[in-house]
Amino acid sequence: MIDLTNIPVTEVVEKSGLRHIAFIMDGNGRWATAKGQPREFGHRAGAANFKTIVRYCKKIGIECCTVYAFSTENIKRPKREVEAIMTLLVNYIAEAVDEKDIEFRFIGDAYGLGENIGRKCAGLEKETAGRPYRLNIALNYGGRAEIVQAVNRLMQDKLLRGDKTPVTEDDISAYLYTAGCPEPDLIVRTGNEQRISNFLTWQSTYSEFHFSQKMWPDYTTDDVDLAVRDFAGRGRRWGGV
Ligand code: IPE
Ligand code: IPE
Ligand code: MG
Repeated sequence: MIDLTNIPVTEVVEKSGLRHIAFIMDGNGRWATAKGQPREFGHRAGAANFKTIVRYCKKIGIECCTVYAFSTENIKRPKREVEAIMTLLVNYIAEAVDEKDIEFRFIGDAYGLGENIGRKCAGLEKETAGRPYRLNIALNYGGRAEIVQAVNRLMQDKLLRGDKTPVTEDDISAYLYTAGCPEPDLIVRTGNEQRISNFLTWQSTYSEFHFSQKMWPDYTTDDVDLAVRDFAGRGRRWGGV
């Protein structure tokens, strides 16, 4: 634990070892409903806020950010809402290449949302590969589905090699969508809910959690500071003393 009094947040990030922060960006729909607007209005505001928050995390020295944009279960929503989210996504991809220093990775089954979307996501990944700051966008993502695809690909590779050794934890980690990223140190959920909703099931084993009552479009950079300082005050033990 570190003494946080009067320390700028960039130093708190550095001293606390906070490398990877993940956001469950929840509450867009309720935010819009409270304003007498359709849910799509909330998603538009949420998408705008996502850009602000991601840029801020980069600015304060976080190396990797993961955001939950669309879960494998979200496809159950009304067609109109799903289409509005996909339109926002496609518009964002078109401008995202100009986000300075950001390397984009889409984690989840982007092609499952259609060939067009899958190809656009893959294109952005290719164009931004090798940039210093990693942004994982969880799209058509489920933590369980991620583990299942990892195990299937792993078994296939082992079979091809004639490798009959038992599967290890490291093997599975290496086949996850997030391979190469440090595990999330901190997971923030907005929207006044306290659950994981099938997010980063494997990777969250020792993550710290921070819950905000604010709906995602209202979540600010000051709220990020609050979460970072909360994180830095935690005593992480990983099962030790
Ligand atoms: C999160 O906000 C964004 C997505 C799931 C796409 P919600 O749309 O879940 O908003 P609430 O939780 O219904 O308010
Ligand atoms: C989690 O939010 C998924 C995203 C933020 C993209 P949901 O709104 O889908 O989660 P539940 O249904 O409240 O658990
Ligand atoms: Mg929700």
